[in-house]
Amino acid sequence: MRDTWKRKKSDLPMTMKNNDIFNPHRKGKNDKSLVYKMLIGGCIALFVFCYTLSSTWGKSVDISNIPENDINPLYAQKQNNLKLENQKLKDKLQSIENGIDSLQNIENDANNALATPPNQNDQLPFGVEFYDLKDYEGTVDGKNNDEIVLLLIPLRNAEKVLPLMFRNMMNITYSHNLIDIAFLVSDCSDGDKTLETLYELTAAMQESKLIPILEAKEKQTKGKGVFGSSDLYLKYMPEDYIKNVKKSYSPPFHSEYEKPFRSIQIYQKDFGQVIGQGFSDRHDIKIQGIRRKLMGRARNWLLSTALKPYHSWVYWRDVDIEMSPGDILEFMMKFATDFDVIVPNVWRPLPTFLGSEQPYDLNSWIESNEGLKLAKSLDEDDVIVEGYEEYATWRAHLAYIRDVNGDPKEIIDLDGVGGVSILSKASVFRHGSNFPAFTFMNHAETEAFGKLTKEMGLRVGGLPHYTVWHIFEPSEDDLIKISKMERKKRRFGSI
Ligand SMILES: *[C@@H]1O[C@H](CO)[C@@H](O)[C@H](O)[C@H]1NC(C)=O
Repeated sequence: MRDTWKRKKSDLPMTMKNNDIFNPHRKGKNDKSLVYKMLIGGCIALFVFCYTLSSTWGKSVDISNIPENDINPLYAQKQNNLKLENQKLKDKLQSIENGIDSLQNIENDANNALATPPNQNDQLPFGVEFYDLKDYEGTVDGKNNDEIVLLLIPLRNAEKVLPLMFRNMMNITYSHNLIDIAFLVSDCSDGDKTLETLYELTAAMQESKLIPILEAKEKQTKGKGVFGSSDLYLKYMPEDYIKNVKKSYSPPFHSEYEKPFRSIQIYQKDFGQVIGQGFSDRHDIKIQGIRRKLMGRARNWLLSTALKPYHSWVYWRDVDIEMSPGDILEFMMKFATDFDVIVPNVWRPLPTFLGSEQPYDLNSWIESNEGLKLAKSLDEDDVIVEGYEEYATWRAHLAYIRDVNGDPKEIIDLDGVGGVSILSKASVFRHGSNFPAFTFMNHAETEAFGKLTKEMGLRVGGLPHYTVWHIFEPSEDDLIKISKMERKKRRFGSI
């Protein structure tokens, strides 16, 4: 053994040789102690090696299940774990690349890495507020989690429909003390009293004194039609529908009905909308694009002025809804696990001689190949609007997918959305989505909002069999037709 060492020694690198040369008198002693040292070192190394090996086994696998001296299964298992881990990472990367992985998951990972935030219940210095924004993300059980909803309502020349709108707001069963409301009044015509009426009704509602005022207003307008124009056409509306409306606006009301809301803000701002609100004006294709961009701008003003850190949800609501389920917020929040934006179906009733009912909001749709092709053929700045021959998109419209007996809980992915009733997680806007007031992917306003939100990796859904009813506003033609039929009836006793 000694010889072996000696022989080996001669093979050692130069340093060792130099050492020998520079310390000749200690050579004999040195030779011996070096061997000892190496032996001891070898023992320690062996011990450490064995110890490490055993402790590593103990950590990664349960030794008791594995036969002694059988190292291969352990090794295989380790390899397997590594492979799984690897695959997980790969999948994650892939899904991020595909944009499928919701931003939520990525954020949750980031949240886990956060330091402990200050306790909100601690006394913060005067004027200092702290919000951990992950507490305001919006969950399926918003009402029980005390999640605050921001209800946003843009208004323009809306004096006539305000009583209807207030009835609809009161009918919301989501706790009123969890709802902040913000109105934006813009570009009303001379003589229009939207702002004044809004203020009057708001003040009364917050003092729980609104019902008598509404009843008085409703009485006043009787004979002139609940909605202002002529109620002659009501005779020509489907009987069942009218019965439903009457029931919807009559007591008994639920316990939340007369309760004041958490807060109400009224903003006034004009955007120079020169385009009239008349039916034919509103639906002229040439001005639709401009109109939609102005509306987008108004929505963004309203949103960015009203949105606060403690809002978990934003609910957009048009004024001219006639009937909507009272628990629409609770209902739509149920889809929050998978969806960030949710819209119901929107229909409107029609006089029986026009078919009794009709899909109303055509802005909620699933993109089609024809739609994409059409977009490619247009100028970068052109805005596609639905419902015109010139823009045949052949898209699947949420409105047309409706089946009266369909499951209201069915939800489908959408690309574009209409603005009549949009529930969105507040985080969608915090991420930076908005209502483009410019052409985005050949769309503007709410439809561009849908596309943009989806483009950002968030999910937009529509409920084809869950319906909100828009009011029917008879056109000039409808009214002429109705008065003709009335005259005939008077003359001949029947139609
Ligand atoms: C109020 O809510 C009830 C219950 O969901 C509903 O049937 C009714 O149509 C609603 N009323 C209005 C005016 O939308």
